[in-house]
Amino acid sequence: MSATGLRTHQCGELRAADVGERVTVCGWVARRREHGEFLAFVDVRDHTGIIQVVVDNSVDVRAEYVVRVEGTVAARPEGTINPNLPTGEVELQECSVTVLNTSEPPPFPIDARADDVAETTRLQYRYLDIRRERMQRNIRIRARVNSAIRAAMERQGFVEVETPMLVPSTPEGAREFLVPARQAPGSFYALPQSPQLFKQLLMVAGVDRYYQIARCLRDEDLRADRQYEFMQLDAEMSFATQDDVLAAISEAVMSAAEAITGERPPQIEQITWRDAMDRYGIDKPDLRFGMELVELTPIFSATEFKAFAGAGSIKGIRAAGRAEEFGRNKLDGLTDRAKKLGAKGLVWLKVGADVALESPVVKFLSETEQAALVESLGAEPGDLLLIVADEWMTTCEVLGQLRNDLGRPPVHQGPFRYVWVTEFPLFVGIDKETGRPKTGHHPFCHPHPDDLEKFETDPLSVRALAYDLVLNGWELGSGSIRIHDPKLQRRVFNQLGISDEEADRRFGFFLTPFRYGAPPHGGFAFGIDRLTAILAGEENIREVIAFPKTQSGADPMTNSPTPVEPSQLAELGIRTLPPKAK
Ligand code: AMO
Ligand code: AMP
Repeated sequence: MSATGLRTHQCGELRAADVGERVTVCGWVARRREHGEFLAFVDVRDHTGIIQVVVDNSVDVRAEYVVRVEGTVAARPEGTINPNLPTGEVELQECSVTVLNTSEPPPFPIDARADDVAETTRLQYRYLDIRRERMQRNIRIRARVNSAIRAAMERQGFVEVETPMLVPSTPEGAREFLVPARQAPGSFYALPQSPQLFKQLLMVAGVDRYYQIARCLRDEDLRADRQYEFMQLDAEMSFATQDDVLAAISEAVMSAAEAITGERPPQIEQITWRDAMDRYGIDKPDLRFGMELVELTPIFSATEFKAFAGAGSIKGIRAAGRAEEFGRNKLDGLTDRAKKLGAKGLVWLKVGADVALESPVVKFLSETEQAALVESLGAEPGDLLLIVADEWMTTCEVLGQLRNDLGRPPVHQGPFRYVWVTEFPLFVGIDKETGRPKTGHHPFCHPHPDDLEKFETDPLSVRALAYDLVLNGWELGSGSIRIHDPKLQRRVFNQLGISDEEADRRFGFFLTPFRYGAPPHGGFAFGIDRLTAILAGEENIREVIAFPKTQSGADPMTNSPTPVEPSQLAELGIRTLPPKAK
């Protein structure tokens, strides 16, 4: 498969079994070492690996020259075998070397570890960076992930449909990239945040099962798990329940994981949003470590300690064996962190010999309270206990964050722990300006049928048929069963304070189709960059994207974004303001 008109083998393929064979390889000069008076060892690299080539030292090849080498595979002499190299038992001798191209000295050695080279330099010369083994590996892992996902979706009867990149501005939450319309000056397309609206219209259109490996664009602040441009496995199914969607997506994710790790993950477990908040204090729980939040409210129902008295929710976490690590400064640091996260304070207690509690607040706690605390948290000598009292959400969120701060391993570190988080709330609090509930996602998620009775009376307690997939504390994806009934859709809009007229104006092109027989449907999308990064053992999705942007959204290789010619702007009917002072 690898042979071409110019080569018989690839560099990394040659083994002891090939000894005696006359072969031709092509690649880049990775290294050259002079050997005695007459010979040089040249390492030739292609994406499969490195082969050592013995040449006459008059051969003029330097780092990154492109060469074609015809030679005879020979066993390396005793003592010169390199056990770290798959080709380490052989070398090419009696070589004839053709220089196919020369190279300027590269700005960084291609075999350097990524950590040694500044990331902007790596991105500026990405085409050299990708020559490195790690990037070659990551790019190929990504291709295998894509291919396994495609195969899994097609096995399950999903049909690949492409959706447009120039779309109307949509209500999905993130800031959009706008594209000026030359033919309609003053009007703009948006680049799609996701194919959400179109995939639902494909359900109205009777496609039944749609999928797409879709490019999405969002103008967000960039982070380790966020790029402006990213890829989703996007899917939608008709006449399907939540369980059907979870099963179909699980199959795609597990197939991708199996393609990379060789092992199929066990069936993905499920947890409701409320349980996730209660036990992990976050809607993307990392199940790789314990330190769960423990309910303590009943213990303090009659407490004299004023910080705990009357609090809606009191919870604690136990950092096993961590008491000694936390001196006064670090404890103050934890308290400040808790306050920044929204808590009124943080109680810490160290567990001493005989599980005696040590803390400035211990004197405010009764014997019974102390004993119950030790019992509930399972405290043992040497532990550090942290307690927050507040309304339920704040208590959960603050402790959940502290739990992650104290215990969470880097995202790419095994084991892989997938979990479905289900029954997200339909609304996420009240908008201060309008006084109306706000949606967590887009306004098309189906309310949980069991909660429809309290839809008008207690909207904040209404659950949605909405679910996330989480891996090692990263949100991999989200989805929901959608509203297909225009009357229910209107009820949701009304709760959000969106009048029928406004709904028609903003989402009309989307709502009209639902008057023509929309089937019940639901779907999901997960981030391929995120899944691939974790499977590849990377902490940042940039490492699994061929041409990513830097943290500040720039591309040092092409220098984009760049100003454009005034004539281009004039043609688009656009005048720009001078940049704002920073
Ligand atoms: P959502 O907005 O949750 O859902 O996005 C789904 C998944 O896409 C990935 N993702 C990103 N990856 C890299 N960089 C980004 N800036 C970025 N933003 C999102 C995440 C995320 O979980 N249309 C809905 C899905 C649906 O309801 O079917 C949607 O896009 O992994
Ligand atoms: P105070 O009574 O405000 O002096 O607080 C006494 C101790 O309780 C301090 O260590 C505070 O950080 C802590 N504390 C105060 N309010 C809370 C709270 N709501 N939850 C947890 N700890 C608190």
